[in-house]
Amino acid sequence: MHAEPTRALHALSDISAAPPDPILGLTEAFKADPNPSKINLSVGVFQDETGRSPVLECVKQAEKRLLESESSKSYLPIAGDPVYGQQVVRLVFGESVADSKRIASIHTPGGTGALRVAGDFIRNLLGPRRVWLSDPTWPNHPGIFRAAHLVTEVYPYFEATTNSVAYESMREKLAHVPEGDVVVLHGCCHNPSGADLAQEQWSDLADTLRARSLVPLVDFAYQGFGDDLEADAAGVRTLFNAGLDMLVSSSFSKNFGLYRERVGTLSVVTESPDAAARVLSQLKAVVRTNYSNPPAHGGSIVATILSDAELTDLWKKELAVMQARIANTRKSFVEGLRKAGAKRDFSFLERQKGMFSFSGLNREQVERLRAEHSIYIVGSGRVNVAGITTANLEYLCNAIASVL
Ligand code: LMR
Repeated sequence: MHAEPTRALHALSDISAAPPDPILGLTEAFKADPNPSKINLSVGVFQDETGRSPVLECVKQAEKRLLESESSKSYLPIAGDPVYGQQVVRLVFGESVADSKRIASIHTPGGTGALRVAGDFIRNLLGPRRVWLSDPTWPNHPGIFRAAHLVTEVYPYFEATTNSVAYESMREKLAHVPEGDVVVLHGCCHNPSGADLAQEQWSDLADTLRARSLVPLVDFAYQGFGDDLEADAAGVRTLFNAGLDMLVSSSFSKNFGLYRERVGTLSVVTESPDAAARVLSQLKAVVRTNYSNPPAHGGSIVATILSDAELTDLWKKELAVMQARIANTRKSFVEGLRKAGAKRDFSFLERQKGMFSFSGLNREQVERLRAEHSIYIVGSGRVNVAGITTANLEYLCNAIASVL
């Protein structure tokens, strides 16, 4: 009798390496680069004028309070702290959201966690529907939904020749996708293009979605980074007020600067409080077999800030400072490129919203910027404008002009 070979060990040694992540992998390469002039415009992390990603003052104050008052490290409920949940629903859907009982909301580990729970929920409860993603979209979107065993497709979104939203093509495509499919939308500050839908387009989109019973899943990771908290929520609220069933994933990585605390929310809007209760029970079942219950710290910080008028005021001021820095940097970037002699018209950068823009640089130019100038940009040409400072602007613009 022969003993069975130890299959598991052989299987492990046969595994090939995964490619680096197209966004986070660049930051690893950036860190290892010894060039003192290096610039990281890849990952979507806010940087101030000195190139730092500081902890917000409102967060520091909330953490001090938590340190004093926290009395237990026992588990949170599966859906997270209900106070946090209620505050987030008001932030996303509006202070006066009258029928919030129609919304099932859970605290998730970041916006990514919310999207993955959404994916599992859709696959388990709604069946094998397709998930339609904007072309282009955040590179992690396809992987998240495929990991949930959903098939992804794309709809046209961005028109490179005009650097704006290709709304007619988008609408035309969505008007013909199978009924009941899921459509992923970016609530504001489209990642990667920075090109957002106009208000009338959101209203029109609501009709298109309703006509085919499509389910919107709004990825809302940058509330407050485009114009302000209210204006940036206009799209989400338009769909909500149109009475559509929908899912919304929120992230507080950027607007509270809580990246590593992994704090987000999945909200599912249903037609009645009864339906919301059933949905909530299913979301909890998904969470329980995934990460069991959410990590507390980030959510406690957000809940502490949003439950206190003074801290909320401070947060809004700090958020407005971040938003203004990005908007001003867009202007300096356009001006800097002009001064550096770039022949192309980059004025569209000023019209786009949030941290990201498609620069229009191709893969070869992006690669040259990295190899010759230690400037790190995502392969699609997406730049994180918040990585530009007065100190690195000239070097950056000259480098870009030299590869055009
Ligand atoms: C980004 O797009 O850079 C951010 O959302 C960070 C990430 O996780 O990719």
